[in-house]
Amino acid sequence: MAGIDPAISADHIIRRFGATVAVDDVSLAVAPGEIYGFLGPNGAGKSTLTRVLCTLITPSEGHARVAGYDVATEAEEVRLRVGVALQEAALDDQQTGSEMLALQGRFYGLSAAATRSRVAELTDLIDIGDALARRIGTYSGGMKRRLDLALALVHDPAVLFLDEPTTGLDPVSRAKVWQEVRRLNTDLGMTVFLTTQYLEEADELADRVGIINKGVLVAEGTPTELKRAIGTDVIIVTLGGSVDRARTALGRLGTVQRIETSGETLMLSVSDGPSTISPVAVTLADVPGADVRELSLRRPSLDDVFLSVTGEHISDDHAPGGAVDTSRDDSTRERA
Ligand SMILES: Nc1ncnc2c1ncn2[C@@H]1O[C@H](COP(=O)(O)OP(=O)(O)O)[C@@H](O)[C@H]1O
Ligand SMILES: [Mg+2]
Repeated sequence: MAGIDPAISADHIIRRFGATVAVDDVSLAVAPGEIYGFLGPNGAGKSTLTRVLCTLITPSEGHARVAGYDVATEAEEVRLRVGVALQEAALDDQQTGSEMLALQGRFYGLSAAATRSRVAELTDLIDIGDALARRIGTYSGGMKRRLDLALALVHDPAVLFLDEPTTGLDPVSRAKVWQEVRRLNTDLGMTVFLTTQYLEEADELADRVGIINKGVLVAEGTPTELKRAIGTDVIIVTLGGSVDRARTALGRLGTVQRIETSGETLMLSVSDGPSTISPVAVTLADVPGADVRELSLRRPSLDDVFLSVTGEHISDDHAPGGAVDTSRDDSTRERA
């Protein structure tokens, strides 16, 4: 990457709202053509940094450059080169998709003909097709997200910002958005800055992931690097009691690199899971009152990374061994 200017660079960005420090001294760089996943729980500061980078709000301190221009002093230049699909899109239910796309084209100074040919390209790329002639009020949540994505792309931006593009979507719509983001990246070489609270989304899509918690960038790397950094395998032990005693006993096993405790659950970072699981079982059998409820082995996930850097799980949906429930948040987060 030496010699190539980053598509996005943030240099010690701080953004305050009154006494709240929403973004706390974040520095990062995204290379042209990269998909950067900005991962963190609700309230972590993802939207705030995204808004700073898109010139929608100014930083309290620090500097950022996007597509070669400074977000504070050259905001107009930045705006022409970025596409933005925010968490709460402003779609007008009374208009059709085509009308909104035409409006967006005019906004960016494209001729009607240029907008039409651009929209034709986009409808190929973004699976929205026939629905464009219908009023937006009739769209499903997934269709609205895809229209919003198309709107962000009308002026062929170099850098695309997507703020939680799949929050509240059902698994099928989510997979479609993932496919489209990947296509934009591989076919058009577009740089993508994507925020998410879904670990599997960051894992699936991002070339590199930055983990943000309480405004602070707490870890950064490729998904593989991040997972490798916390140990090769994870053994999960859930107990009915004697957690502290079990922890002490397991800590004496030479192959156990680290133990994290979350309630009654212990997560053991080990270099070789399969050969460590029986010594763990034997050790636990000797701990009075430990009462093993679960003993399992898995590859580390980004949630393990999040837990190891913050001491918390990213959300309750991602408890160890638990399935990710994607159906639950629809009602509260779906756009009106
Ligand atoms: N306009 C605002 N006024 C006051 N506080 C805000 C505003 N926007 C965000 N915040 C606060 O900043 C923090 C980060 O918010 P946000 O960037 O929206 O997080 P995320 O997008 O990761 O959920 C939160 O504590 C939030 O309440
Ligand atoms: Mg947000």
